[in-house]
Amino acid sequence: MDHFAYRNGVLHCEEVPIPAIAEAAGTPVYVYASATLERHYRVLAEALAGLKPQIHFALKANASLGVIATLARLGAGADVVSGGELRLALAAGVPARLIVFSGVGKTDDELRMAIATGIYQINVESEPELDRIAQLARDLGRRAPVALRVNPDIDAGTHVKITTGTKENKFGIEWARAPAIARRAKALAGIEFVGLAVHIGSQLTSLAPFEAAFLRLRDLVALLKGEGIEVRRLDLGGGLGVPYEPAKNETPPLPADYGTMIRRTLGDLDLDLSFEPGRLLVGNAGILVSRVIRVKEGATKSFLILDAGMNDLMRPALYDAYHDIRPVLEPRPGAPRRAIDVVGPICETSDTFARQRLLPALAEGDLVAIGTAGAYGASMASEYNGRPLVPEVLVRGGDYALTRPRPSLDEMLARQMRPRWLDEPGP
Ligand code: LLP
Repeated sequence: MDHFAYRNGVLHCEEVPIPAIAEAAGTPVYVYASATLERHYRVLAEALAGLKPQIHFALKANASLGVIATLARLGAGADVVSGGELRLALAAGVPARLIVFSGVGKTDDELRMAIATGIYQINVESEPELDRIAQLARDLGRRAPVALRVNPDIDAGTHVKITTGTKENKFGIEWARAPAIARRAKALAGIEFVGLAVHIGSQLTSLAPFEAAFLRLRDLVALLKGEGIEVRRLDLGGGLGVPYEPAKNETPPLPADYGTMIRRTLGDLDLDLSFEPGRLLVGNAGILVSRVIRVKEGATKSFLILDAGMNDLMRPALYDAYHDIRPVLEPRPGAPRRAIDVVGPICETSDTFARQRLLPALAEGDLVAIGTAGAYGASMASEYNGRPLVPEVLVRGGDYALTRPRPSLDEMLARQMRPRWLDEPGP
C-alpha cells in the first residue's frame, strides 16, 4: 500500500501533484509520502503487539532527516552503523535510549561516541571488538550495554550481495564461539551483557529462513541460561522484503504473519525484542521523479534517456534490481506500448534502470516516476560524473517540504581545496 496514485490523469503523492514538486525542486528528485511511512510503521507495530517490541528504524535505508523524524514521532528508535548515522538519529529526535549501534567495523571514535551518548545497545561482531568496547567504556567510566550479534549460518535466500547470515559472510560471531564469548562478555568489567542479535539478510521473501535463525537463537538462549547467563533481550534484525514488481504478483511475507511466526518461535521466552526494519518502513514510501532528456533510436533498440542516473539510484546497476517506471501523466487506456531501455546520462552501460521495458510513448521533457525507491535510493546516492546530490522532498497531505536541496555547482566546488604546490611555479 502506498500513496502514489493518478488523480485526474496526474500522478500525485498524497494530495500533491508530482509536476508541482518537479517544478519547485527540479529533477531528479526523491519524493516521500508521510502517510505511507506512518501506515507501514503502524502495521508493523500492530503485527508485533504483545511481544514487548521496540522498532529501531535502520537509517541506512533512508537517511533523510524528515523521514527519520516522522518515524521517531511515532515511537521508532534507530539502528545506526556509523558515527554519522548516530548523530543524524539524535538530530532527528530519536532518544539515545532507543538507538542500537550495529556494524561490522566500528572505529574507536564511533564507539566512544556511542558509549558516551548512552545508547540502548551496541551489537558486537567479534571478540576483539568486545575487548575494545570494554576498554573504551572503562576509560570513560561507563558500562557499555552489549548484545552479541551471532552468525546462525542460515541462507536468507535473497540476492547474494545482501545475504549476511551464512558462515562465509563477514557478519556476526561464529556460532560455535558464541557461548564462550557470551561468558567473557558477562565477566568483563566495562561490559553489561544484555542479549543476542541476529540479521541474516535483506529483501527476504520467505519467513522460513527467519524462523530457522530465530529457532537457533532460542537454543542459544537456553544453552546460556543453563550456564547461568541470563539473556534479557533479543534483537531480530531487519530484512522483511517488499514487492517491487507489480505485474509479478510478488508476495513477500506480511508483517502480521511475521509477528505470528515470532510469537510461535520466541513468544514464550518473554524477552524484550528489538527489530531493525529498513526497507519495509520506507521502500514503498518513496519515488524518484525524473525528466526525459532524450529519446534515442539505436541500431537494435531504443533508449529513453532520463536526467536521473545510477548515481541517484544505484540498485538496478548494483543488484540488477527491478523498479517500476511509470509516466507522471497517466497514459490513456489502451495506449500502445513499446519495449525500450530506460537509461541515465552516466558514462557507463551499468547506468540502466530497465531493459526492454514496455512503456507508452514518452517524449523529451516528460516526467516519469521510478517506484519503490524510498529504501536504499537517496541514501546510496553519490556525485559521480559531477552530478549534484539528488534532493529530497517530504509530502504530508496537501503540503510538502524540500528536506534536502540540490547543492549548486559552486557549493560542490567549494568543498574541494587546491593543493598549495600547484600554485607554485611548475617543473
Ligand atoms: N540491520 C542490519 C544489521 C542490517 O545490516 C540491515 C541492512 C538492516 C538491519 C535493515 O535491513 P532491511 O530491513 O532494510 O532489509 N543496499 C541494499 C540493502 C542492504 C541492506 C544492508 N543491511 C539494497 O538496496 O537492496
